[in-house]
Amino acid sequence: MEIRKCLFPAAGYGTRFLPATKATPKEMLPILNKPLIQYGVEEALEAGISNIAIVTGRGKRAIEDHFDISFELEHQIQGSSKEPLLSDIRDLINRCTFSYTRQKQMRGLGHAVLTGETLIGNEPFAVILADDLCFNEEKGVLAQMIEVFNRYQCSVVAIQEVPKEDTAKYGIIDGDLVYGRDDVYRVHNMIEKPDPEDAPTNLAIIGRYILTPDIFDILRETKEGKGGEIQITDALMEQAKNDRVVAFRFKGDRFDCGSIDGFVEATNFFYKNL
Ligand code: G1P
Repeated sequence: MEIRKCLFPAAGYGTRFLPATKATPKEMLPILNKPLIQYGVEEALEAGISNIAIVTGRGKRAIEDHFDISFELEHQIQGSSKEPLLSDIRDLINRCTFSYTRQKQMRGLGHAVLTGETLIGNEPFAVILADDLCFNEEKGVLAQMIEVFNRYQCSVVAIQEVPKEDTAKYGIIDGDLVYGRDDVYRVHNMIEKPDPEDAPTNLAIIGRYILTPDIFDILRETKEGKGGEIQITDALMEQAKNDRVVAFRFKGDRFDCGSIDGFVEATNFFYKNL
């Protein structure tokens, strides 16, 4: 089973970044001169995935325009010193296909993933949450996860250790290390955003998933969970009951660009390192 498609849930309002996100999708906020979602698409492409599926919503038109040719602009800067600034995005547009579907109501990440079913169909797929910006010099996080998927042939979640007081911001997993590895856990429990005293570990899910397509049938049956939303964590827990989820402690840096602190950290990091 080859991973050919990557889903980007991008319908959320980005309320933590108001007023910047009042008329601009949060996925279009730039780290230096590149929008967050472009970093995500580049990560997918580096992992060999060129079929990009985006779940959008009202007010997200800028995303579609970004991944399209802008005739007027290109004509205007043709032959000028500015032209190279567009070469990366042009290359990306040439190498990828983009498809879109709209989520009419915000009912949580699980519901957003289920909305993407029409673009994914019956095959395993990757999910990137663009506001979790990941960077690893040698091999990107999604490329690392695909190797894990190829080995274990089940859903994969990316995890990292977080301070215990932060568990209420994340899905938290519990599991046992797989024999012979220090970075892959067979998951036997997952809880969405538990308070620190209820968290079984401090291993937090970050915004990278590989999901097997049975997740769609499970999501259809998943009841509203934490915050009254349909949670992907709850659907994954159903797979975990049958030992069908592994958690992978990836190599690299991750920035929570949904928060001002993480956004500034990412900006400084990329300014210094690239
Ligand atoms: C979502 C998931 C959560 C996960 C997080 C990673 O939460 O529900 O399990 O840990 O993404 O960024 P959100 O950040 O959308 O509230």
